[in-house]
Amino acid sequence: MTRSTIKITVLENEAEQTIETYKGEYRNLMELLKDKLYFDCFGECGGMGRCATCIVHVTGLQGSSVKQDRNEPVTLARYGYKDESEIRLSCQLLISADLDGARVSVLEEN
Ligand code: FES
Repeated sequence: MTRSTIKITVLENEAEQTIETYKGEYRNLMELLKDKLYFDCFGECGGMGRCATCIVHVTGLQGSSVKQDRNEPVTLARYGYKDESEIRLSCQLLISADLDGARVSVLEEN
């Protein structure tokens, strides 16, 4: 069985790197970023979509990932991000082909 590689470009502190993953390696983008880049205090609610410590700016999403879902719009609005489609909770972005080619910047904590 062949596994499709999913490539995600991450910008952090003006450095850019491409991370490769595949569907099933990580549940969501927050878990991937936390594991590969060792951010402190990132993803504190464990992916429940409530803490907003996993906020990212992301472009290049495809498919159903484009749409904010579940707790995401409510949590983002609570932290001052309303109707900003490129600001997302990375824990709510499931790792799938929708993320292939996406560009992600990690935002500073509020
Ligand atoms: S990990 Fe808490 S909102 Fe994403």
